[in-house]
Amino acid sequence: MNNQELISQAKAVLSNSYSPYSNFKVAAAILTENGIVYTGVNVENASYGATICAERTAAVKAVSEGERKFIKIAIISSSGEFTYPCGICRQFLADFMDDASEVILSNDKGEEKVFKFGELIPGVFRGEDIK
Ligand code: THU
Repeated sequence: MNNQELISQAKAVLSNSYSPYSNFKVAAAILTENGIVYTGVNVENASYGATICAERTAAVKAVSEGERKFIKIAIISSSGEFTYPCGICRQFLADFMDDASEVILSNDKGEEKVFKFGELIPGVFRGEDIK
């Protein structure tokens, strides 16, 4: 699956974003090692703090279906600008993404930015570090 196809899958669910507090819609699409795509949107909460980002929604959907390894993740938002994953999501994704796996950002001009996951969270704490 190419990057544009993965971005399209994220775009297809953006309107499902539940974001009445920020009005900032985010969608993500994850390609797993089994070749399956899991999408997710941000799900906000009246408490604000219980809000779940789009990236973690997609990740928990994948993991709940038995997936453990993600090849790449595409992220888009209603801002039309490149939207970077927050720090909590970067740490959360680290359990399922290698440094060499890819993070694809897209804006509303159809431009892409592609990062290696390791570039976005250098020196990440990983489960293997727990002794
Ligand atoms: N948000 C995401 O879903 N992913 C990101 O990468 C950045 C932030 C959401 C959380 C909240 O619902 C809204 O965007 C504003 O922060």
